Amino acid sequence: MIKRVLIKFSGEALANEDGHGINSNTLKYIASEIKPLTDNGVEVGLVVGGGNIIRGVNASKEGIIRRSSGDYMGMLATVINAVAIQEALEHFGLKVRVQSAIEMNEICEPFIVRRAIRHLEKGRIVVFAAGTGNPFFTTDTAATLRAVEIGASIIIKATKVDGVYDKDPQKYPDARKIPVLSYEEALKDNIKVMDDTAIALAKDNSLPIVVCNMFEEGNLYNIVVNEDFSRCSIVKDKESI
Ligand code: GTP
Repeated sequence: MIKRVLIKFSGEALANEDGHGINSNTLKYIASEIKPLTDNGVEVGLVVGGGNIIRGVNASKEGIIRRSSGDYMGMLATVINAVAIQEALEHFGLKVRVQSAIEMNEICEPFIVRRAIRHLEKGRIVVFAAGTGNPFFTTDTAATLRAVEIGASIIIKATKVDGVYDKDPQKYPDARKIPVLSYEEALKDNIKVMDDTAIALAKDNSLPIVVCNMFEEGNLYNIVVNEDFSRCSIVKDKESI
């Protein structure tokens, strides 16, 4: 069993069918997938994106909003999502703390790594919000950074596809799934696991990246508790492949 894990959900995954807002059924589903982990003593850190509310890159596309401002707006979006996830997890009786990289003390705790680790040790789920607190970084990079900081054994990118493909499986029916790959392979242009900054950080710290379909029931349990990686893809050190 993996003792400590960081799971990253995309904001988009929380959205309603039109791609916006926060869907209560998805919140319930996420909580029901995470509960069996904490019930088994797994220490869980979470990061959630903000794409269901706003994306910095898109917001700044027309040239009115500066990219850095767009990114700060995106960071605020992740705080909204983090609070929603906290509510959903608490609804299922789990203990949760939200920590933000940008202080907003009335809403959540500030990010303090030693405190986050203490929460995890006490069985609380910690949701890390507001990305890295800096523009020009993705929530994937924020998630990888937090995973390294809290000493997680793996980072799971819980997404809509069941792994890493040689090309976009939603566009190309002949796309091939790659079950195991090295960081070097993950950095290649056609492979979109995470952005280069996130992968470089994972590589430097030998942090395995698991990509799985969050909508396949029991998937997170299978990966984290059973250490069964057969229904996902894993990026790790060349030597260990
Ligand atoms: P222990 O130190 O292990 O008891 O952790 P704890 O988080 O239960 O204790 P603490 O007294 O620090 O926090 C109690 C509650 O207040 C928790 O729900 C925290 O998330 C919340 N809390 C703590 N600090 C802040 C803060 O700066 N802002 C906000 N909004 N909530 C906070």
